[in-house]
Amino acid sequence: MTSPTRTHDAPPSRTFDQWWRDAVVYQVYPRSFADSNGDGMGDLPGITSRLPYLADLGVDAIWLSPFYTSPQKDGGYDVADYTDVDPRFGTLADADELIACAHELGIKVIADVVPNHSSSEHPRFQQALLAGPGSPERDMYVFADGKGEDGELPPNNWTSIFHGPAWSRITEADGTLGQWYLHIFDTTQPDWNWENPNVHDLFQNVLRFWLDRGVDGFRVDVAHGMVKPEGLPDATVTAEGLVDIPEGEAPIYFDNDGVLDIYREWRPILDSYEGDRMMVLEAWIPEHRVPLYIGDDVAHQAFSFGFLQATWGADTIRAAIEQPLAQAGAVDSPTTWVLSNHDLIRHATRYGFPPDYQFGEGLARDERSNTVLGLRRARALSLVMLALPGSAYLYQGEELGLPEVADIPDELREDPAHKRAGVPGRDGCRVPMPWKREAPALGFSRTGESWLPQPPEFADLAVDVQQDDPTSTLEMYRKALHLRQDLGLGRSEEPIEFLDAPDGVLALAHSGIIVIVNTGETPVDLAEWSGIGQAEVLVSSDALETGELPANSSAWIQRL
Ligand code: GLC
Repeated sequence: MTSPTRTHDAPPSRTFDQWWRDAVVYQVYPRSFADSNGDGMGDLPGITSRLPYLADLGVDAIWLSPFYTSPQKDGGYDVADYTDVDPRFGTLADADELIACAHELGIKVIADVVPNHSSSEHPRFQQALLAGPGSPERDMYVFADGKGEDGELPPNNWTSIFHGPAWSRITEADGTLGQWYLHIFDTTQPDWNWENPNVHDLFQNVLRFWLDRGVDGFRVDVAHGMVKPEGLPDATVTAEGLVDIPEGEAPIYFDNDGVLDIYREWRPILDSYEGDRMMVLEAWIPEHRVPLYIGDDVAHQAFSFGFLQATWGADTIRAAIEQPLAQAGAVDSPTTWVLSNHDLIRHATRYGFPPDYQFGEGLARDERSNTVLGLRRARALSLVMLALPGSAYLYQGEELGLPEVADIPDELREDPAHKRAGVPGRDGCRVPMPWKREAPALGFSRTGESWLPQPPEFADLAVDVQQDDPTSTLEMYRKALHLRQDLGLGRSEEPIEFLDAPDGVLALAHSGIIVIVNTGETPVDLAEWSGIGQAEVLVSSDALETGELPANSSAWIQRL
């Protein structure tokens, strides 16, 4: 399957009632948000009980990471039943209740859909194992004969994102060694065969199932996956033997044009429902490919991952703002801004790494970050993000300034990447939320259980400590979210104006406010800066007692 290159010379007319265009979406990682039944793992009733907190914080929508039936080999991104709730998280009735309560509070609900792979415990995969080569059951997944005399070598040289080979050989029902199946991720996550129309039907029904239950949209997992190149050719590999990612391209098994046809199938389904149902894609693809995925007949938006990779500095941050804004203009869909999610080192820790830190390279999670500096910079950058036009995706706990937890004992780590390759993995950003300073499991679970241990430093970051403290990260987020709403910052269509500013300072103006971030090492005197004149500080990431914007901080100001 191929698709033509899209052009954008005639943007469609639009209205601003499309809520997602400027929404602040809060990602809830269900395992770690709030545990209502005391088993140490978060659940849907727990989330429902905390919705008033989110309404009060000022978010427009929540995105729920998977809560479906799953053996939890990859934190629920290994789905065994897409249309049921895992008993660990509750029941379908609990999901209905959550959606209804969120809607009553004016909060939209985005569900996660995981179409690249299922769990190996999915009944369809189990049937495929039993049915044998060449059967329709086996054709639901990507099975292939091995190479070598006895098929003892994998069908090609692809490696898994979680390290090691991307193929595993099965034992056939008669006990002989048999075919191989593809798993771009863990061995417990076999890839669906999107060449098979039955896979298309299955997922269309999944979408309808959740749309019927009232969800307002979907976050599509590995949205650039699904369609594999014809003939499953070998990839070029790096010196380490890993699938290469050539400059300006995605790995061979991602970002194949055929995947766009899946969104062309899904979009009319979403459009056939009342209300603005949307989809946002998790697609780690080169920037120049993003516009193909966004438009009236494909997805509404895609995560823009450039901003979170910006190194600390006025020029780098400016470039990371300009690029997605230019792209948003080209596709007529406001950009998305993201700083953290459940796969990344929390940004309060990332921005405390030494200056030579390159995103995704160099430093392991366990290496020490300057957490004081990291938090200051994280607050400053979050405030910049929340002023920008477009939608902002927050990850639970960033509003508390939570750091990455580095010292989780290995035996408690659950990330399959850790299990496969011994790397620290992503558990450090998934540690349960601290709600109350003086409570068992910091209020996460009434019994004191928590599936990952919370470090002592989480106590002082608990919600009840930060609430009503005007200097806290939580109150900074709350204030910014409410101001953003009141001033219509997210939906501004005015071009952003970058102002002349002292070295190391980035200043931009739009919608009547000026956003300044001081990435330098010395304070900037706002009163003496002629570009600003007399001004009122609306919100700042650090105290501005003497009219100076300290190093590593930011502010929103209004000219008087
Ligand atoms: C996405 C998810 C990640 C998961 C992977 C495989 O990248 O965000 O958590 O491990 O897909 O489903």
